[in-house]
Amino acid sequence: MSMHKSSFLLIGLSLLVISQSLSAECDPPGNSPLLGKVAPEKLIEAWDLSIFPDGTGLPPGKGNVVEGEKIYNAQCAVCHGPKGIGGSAEELAGGEQGLTGEYPDKTIGTYWPYATTLFDFIRRGMPLSAPGSLTDDQVYAVTAYLLHVNKILPGDAELSKETLPEVEMPNRSGFVWIYPGLKK
Ligand code: HEC
Repeated sequence: MSMHKSSFLLIGLSLLVISQSLSAECDPPGNSPLLGKVAPEKLIEAWDLSIFPDGTGLPPGKGNVVEGEKIYNAQCAVCHGPKGIGGSAEELAGGEQGLTGEYPDKTIGTYWPYATTLFDFIRRGMPLSAPGSLTDDQVYAVTAYLLHVNKILPGDAELSKETLPEVEMPNRSGFVWIYPGLKK
């Protein structure tokens, strides 16, 4: 092989190695479907986040309203406003007009049928700038705080996987079952 050809081969091989290691770095679990590979246990764990209305899937841990207020003010109020009202993002509280007035006001307090969904939503998606960055205890705490500003929990409440599913949301019976033939 001539000198010319072998240096091209060498450059080609080095580029291949560089691009492979870059793609390994740029494909963190969650951003790539990893087609054709058996999903690693860790990846399955990271995606296995769903929490059902009855609380199935909730992790161990606990958090209270007071801790939740601090987390909320530091990490959520910038978008959702103080106490969940008046920010640039979705309003999380203050649905004084309810759902039946001329301008239905859908908030956690007026609309959401299950408190467990709040934990699920916050854990997988919030804060919008860093989803997944809160610990489970912090998610319990901020969930407790949001239920408190929606007048559903008292200021000294603490939540855990046992108590969160017991929270009765005001609009719990406001949804119509879409499969009338099947029992709930
Ligand atoms: C950078 C802005 C931003 C920050 C910070 C942020 N959020 Fe959000 N949040 C949003 C936006 C935008 C939406 C609407 C997203 C959507 O509907 O898909 C939203 C939606 C939500 C909802 C669902 C509201 C509804 O009724 O549909 C909840 C609950 C929530 N955020 C809680 C939190 C909590 C708790 C924090 C702090 C830990 C937080 N957010 C931080 C921007 C933000």
